[in-house]
Amino acid sequence: MKPEPVEIAKGIYWVGAVDWEERDFHGFRIERGSSYNAYLVVDEKITLVDTVKQRFFHEMIERVSQVVEPSEIDYIVSNHVETDHSGALADVKELTDATVICTEKGKKGLCKHFDCSEWEMKVVKTGDELSIGRRTLMFVETPMLHWPDNMVTYVKEDKILMSNDAFGQHFASVERYDEEVGVDEAVRWAKLYYANILMPFGELVKRKLEELSTIEIEMIAPSHGVIWKNPQRILEAYSKWASFVSERKLVVVYDTMWESTSRIAKAIAEGAGSEGVDVRVFRVRNDDISDIMAEILDAGGVAIGSSTMHNTFLPSVSSFLTSLQGLRPKGKLGVAFGSYGWSGGAVKQITEVLEKLRFDVLPPLQIRYRPTDEELRKAFDLGVNMAEKIKERV
Ligand SMILES: Cc1cc2nc3c(=O)[nH]c(=O)nc-3n(C[C@H](O)[C@H](O)[C@H](O)COP(=O)(O)O)c2cc1C
Ligand SMILES: [Fe+2]
Ligand SMILES: [Fe+2]
Repeated sequence: MKPEPVEIAKGIYWVGAVDWEERDFHGFRIERGSSYNAYLVVDEKITLVDTVKQRFFHEMIERVSQVVEPSEIDYIVSNHVETDHSGALADVKELTDATVICTEKGKKGLCKHFDCSEWEMKVVKTGDELSIGRRTLMFVETPMLHWPDNMVTYVKEDKILMSNDAFGQHFASVERYDEEVGVDEAVRWAKLYYANILMPFGELVKRKLEELSTIEIEMIAPSHGVIWKNPQRILEAYSKWASFVSERKLVVVYDTMWESTSRIAKAIAEGAGSEGVDVRVFRVRNDDISDIMAEILDAGGVAIGSSTMHNTFLPSVSSFLTSLQGLRPKGKLGVAFGSYGWSGGAVKQITEVLEKLRFDVLPPLQIRYRPTDEELRKAFDLGVNMAEKIKERV
């Protein structure tokens, strides 16, 4: 049986590939795999919007072949250079004389990945339109969402936004639509994706959402995961995430060698919980950093703990802090805590990171060796204090 294309609107087909096996996307753990969505628009001019990872080229072409001869493709729109979407572009170009449509930066990026010396390429800017027969494609540049070359493609007559990475989810499924997997479930996967890929670009996301609000969107067809038949739900979620709208939630992240720091973590968690705030506790060595980031995205406060080893924090906490500094969550309440033996170091260094992130930083809690009951009471009170402050803010 050949892989089937899926007609998502009259004459518009999903011709992508489902990647059931992948679990790691440049360090971001994708426990449900992913998909690379390419779309074929059949009109007087046949247009392929994006491609797939190179190793899925044949799967994509088999889908295309069930609708048109691949050699008949007139245009290939490349919304984004990253090779999960452009990887099969050169292979498609071998089969056709299609013109490649991309942004100026897209052209530069594609030509660093592939030999494009013989390709016909057309550079487009925001607002440019391309008539492909009955339909018109409109392009909107979305620089730094999440590469300089990104753009989105809007099929005017069908009101479909082909948004590339934006609004995507790393989620492999036999279903193609949000409704089929459940809209809430789809939003949950989109949140994980947003937190780990788009979190640093909240201000840009807000601006682009405003720009896109002027066009009527009936369907959002991203390049990963399911297609949004309920675009409003994901647009609203993006607007919330881009503004770091927080819930009454404290996220406690730590690691420990001999359990002293974990005792402090649990006391902080219980203190916050006693004030009715939601608490999520992660021992970072056991948990996945990608999942933690999704929880931090909409948390009011974050408590980060580590014992001191060789004058600094534990390697697992270091790795978490590196991700945190890269993803740059904003507007959170923060505190550092941990156990130490003699001169310490970890707690001070975590505090410096929180300050660099411009969190609203509370005085840290450092405890020598194993915490006494009295010291655990201090940790509990710190949890209470954080919860009160979180409630004031949200
Ligand atoms: C390998 C190792 C290195 C350590 N290095 C330091 C250090 O440089 N400075 C310090 O203050 N304590 C140091 N300590 C002491 C720990 O920070 C202390 O035992 C602390 O209570 C451990 O907390 P935990 O049980 O949460 O891991 C070290 C302990 C170990 C086992
Ligand atoms: Fe990308
Ligand atoms: Fe992607």
